[in-house]
Amino acid sequence: MTRIRIAPSVLAWDLGDLRGAIEIAVEGRADQVHLDVIDGHFAPNITFGPGTVKSLRRLTDMRFDTHLMISEPLKYVEKFLDAGSDLLTFHAEVLDGASFDELRSKIRARGKEIGLAIKPSTALPDWAVERLSEVSALVVMTVNPGFSGQTMDPGLMPKLESVSRLVAERGCSADIEVDGGVEPDNAREVVKRGGNVLVAGAGVYAKSDPVAAIGILRERAEGSP
Ligand code: DX5
Ligand code: ZN
Repeated sequence: MTRIRIAPSVLAWDLGDLRGAIEIAVEGRADQVHLDVIDGHFAPNITFGPGTVKSLRRLTDMRFDTHLMISEPLKYVEKFLDAGSDLLTFHAEVLDGASFDELRSKIRARGKEIGLAIKPSTALPDWAVERLSEVSALVVMTVNPGFSGQTMDPGLMPKLESVSRLVAERGCSADIEVDGGVEPDNAREVVKRGGNVLVAGAGVYAKSDPVAAIGILRERAEGSP
C-alpha cells in the first residue's frame, strides 16, 4: 500500500507565529508542511506569499507542499520556486491543458513537482485526466477553499474514491491528497477511499497537544485503534 503521509496546514495556527507552526510539524515528525497561499480572488481569504515561504524555508528541510489558491498561477510560479517550494499545487479551475504544460515545464526545469487541486464541486477535467502521469499530487478538496476549521463533507467520499480509482487504473503514481476537515475520526475512512496524503489544519493545530496530534492522525489513518 502507498505510504500514508501527514501534512499539517499552518493556516490553522497563529499566522503571526509561523515559526512555531513549523517547529510543531518538525517535532511531530510530519512528512511535509502544507502552505496555503490564497490571493483573495480565487478564494475569499488572503494569507501569505512567496516572501513568507522563503523565510520559512530557512527553518527546515521538510518538504514544502504549497497549495496555491490563486487566480494567476503563471504570474507567480517562478516566485514560489525561488522561495523554495517543493511541490507546487495549482487549481484545475484556473488552468487548461496549455497553461498546465507551461507550468509543468517551468517546475520540472527546477527539479520540483507539480500538483493539481480540485474544489469540492469540480470534476477532474479531460485535459487533466490526459496528463495524470505528469502530476505528483492530486489534491481533492473536501471543503471549499479559504479557511481552516471547516467540517469535511462526507458526501465527497465517492468522488475521492473514483478519483483514486482513476489514478490507479491509469497506472499513475500521483499521491491522492485530501484537504479539508481531516480529523482523527475520519482519517481511516479517507485512506479507505484512496487518500494517502492527509492535510490537517485544525486536526493538528487546534488540538491541545498539536505535536501528539500528528502521531494520532497517522495511527488512525493506518488503522491502529
Ligand atoms: C483551505 C485550505 C486547507 C485548510 C485545511 O482552503 O486549503 O488546507 O487549511 O484546514 P482544516 O484541516 O482545518 O480544514
Ligand atoms: Zn490547502
